[in-house]
Amino acid sequence: MIAERELRRLGTPQDLFQAAADEVIRAANEAVRQGGRFTIALSGGSTPRGLYTLIAANAAGTLPWDKMFFFFGDERHVPPNHPDSNFRMADQAFLSKVPVPGSNIFRIPAEVPDAAVAADAYEKTLREFFSLKPGEFPRFDVILLGLGADGHTASLFPGTAALQEKSRLVVANWVEKLKSTRITLTLPVLNGGRMVVFLVSGSAKAAILHEVLEGKGPDEKYPCRMVKPTDGRLIWFVDRAAASELASAA
Ligand code: 6PG
Repeated sequence: MIAERELRRLGTPQDLFQAAADEVIRAANEAVRQGGRFTIALSGGSTPRGLYTLIAANAAGTLPWDKMFFFFGDERHVPPNHPDSNFRMADQAFLSKVPVPGSNIFRIPAEVPDAAVAADAYEKTLREFFSLKPGEFPRFDVILLGLGADGHTASLFPGTAALQEKSRLVVANWVEKLKSTRITLTLPVLNGGRMVVFLVSGSAKAAILHEVLEGKGPDEKYPCRMVKPTDGRLIWFVDRAAASELASAA
């Protein structure tokens, strides 16, 4: 059953991060209570830094960190200490500031020279962690995603090969406009999430957010529209600046 998209409209970026943090913390406690562990795929870019900082500041002492497992939705094809690394951003803003065991953090090995080898390795990690049989996909408790100005999410960019992937969990994806390869979870994995959360902040995202949520263009033009959890919640957290071009902006 494809759930209805939930649109949570907040005021300032900090209001957005607080609302998202509350939801993630609730999900973490519920997952641990119900199943003994919590799994989350972190997003990269710059927007989530505010969320990560907030969780590190407010929940360092209250969450069951030893039962929480951290993965990544995508990674640039760079080493973990590179300024562009999504792992580096999350580690500096969050993971290095909370008492999560290092063995609970599964970064994409993007330092490996061949991105396809890195993708295969991360797929193996996911299959082993989630004890998947052939043809099965992981069910993350939470998947965090951002929205690029071209409608991409994770490293699923418009017109790229990864959008067609139906069986792999992780692929290396050549992005012509960036002239670089990314490593990304695929749509079947994103759509297997129990709670998929988009974080969209700032006026620079107002035009694309309007197009994505209210525009008439074909879904294929906007990879983020192809994220439709088959049995999970889809929540868009947007702040006032990002929502300023929505028809119902009033
Ligand atoms: C990445 C992200 C990407 C990001 C969007 C939005 O590796 O950059 O996975 O999908 O979420 O590009 O980025 P900002 O939050 O920096 O606007």
